[in-house]
Amino acid sequence: MKDKLQAILDEATQNIQDSDALDKLNDVRVSFLGKKGKLTSVLKGMKDVAAEDRPKVGQMVNETREKIEQYLEETKVRLERAIREHQMKEEVIDVTLPAKRARVGHRHPNTIALEEVERIFIGMGYEVVEGPEVEYDLYNFEKLNIPANHPAKDEQDTFYINKDIVLRTQTSPVQARVMEEGKLPIRMIAPGRVFRSDEVDATHSPSFHQIEGLVIDRNITFADLKGTLEEFAKELFGEETRTKFRPHHFPFTEPSAEVDVTCFKCGGSGCRFCKGTGWIEILGCGMVHPHVLEMCGIDPEEYTGFAFGVGLERIALLKYEIDDMRLLYENDDRFLKQF
Ligand code: DAH
Repeated sequence: MKDKLQAILDEATQNIQDSDALDKLNDVRVSFLGKKGKLTSVLKGMKDVAAEDRPKVGQMVNETREKIEQYLEETKVRLERAIREHQMKEEVIDVTLPAKRARVGHRHPNTIALEEVERIFIGMGYEVVEGPEVEYDLYNFEKLNIPANHPAKDEQDTFYINKDIVLRTQTSPVQARVMEEGKLPIRMIAPGRVFRSDEVDATHSPSFHQIEGLVIDRNITFADLKGTLEEFAKELFGEETRTKFRPHHFPFTEPSAEVDVTCFKCGGSGCRFCKGTGWIEILGCGMVHPHVLEMCGIDPEEYTGFAFGVGLERIALLKYEIDDMRLLYENDDRFLKQF
């Protein structure tokens, strides 16, 4: 029996030594210690051993089992370590490779255009102010010389909250609010969202943005207005840009004008971009109406001023030569990535 056990131990030892992988090692374990393993079958044969020899034989079998188990365990640890070392050598990390760059978002073309306009006016000493998007009819219309039943009111298809409150149709009510505060002189721009009940198309949206401008001081003349907006156009579209003031009508300014700039695409000779005219309309403006000054608590005999209103989307579309306003609102990544 002793020889038999020694033979099993020798064979197991040899087999373990020959195992060069964990699965092979496991096969060895099964073939010796498993249910049908060689050592297990010796145990099963114990019934044939004489009763008085059984404790002795049992102990020998157990010792053999322990030896095999111990050797199996040692070999397993050794193999695992070897595998790990091999992996470490294979998986070299090249710390000099450039890292994967996280994609950072950036400003929307509207925001880029707005910040450009703000930069220009802040440079001329203007303050940037804001007004409410939900506005009283009083500020949106009445104080701007657009009384109830005035036909000019129909020109701006308005979202009414109730009879007295509207979604502002223009940023001009901020003029009235700032004038009412009574701090003079005034030199401000007021950018913000405005709303009109318009159908969506390439040039219209029910929600868009304007930038209002207002200057009130002693001795402000139309010459100041012209000089300011000419400078603005040059800064925005390039030094060679010329401006043209066309007479127009706005209820809250008198006189009023619309301003065109020479087409920055063709320089004024006429192209597809300016529809052959050489000019592109960019804003409305005028001298603040004396009645508006009065309604806002400013003496028109002592103070005068000018105002202007620019469509922000219009500026963004022109600057980036975008031909459809809807692109600015659709949040299509392929479009936005280009700016
Ligand atoms: N609020 C006008 C509009 O939405 C634009 C405008 C015209 C603003 C003349 C002004 C201005 O301040 O003087 O059509």
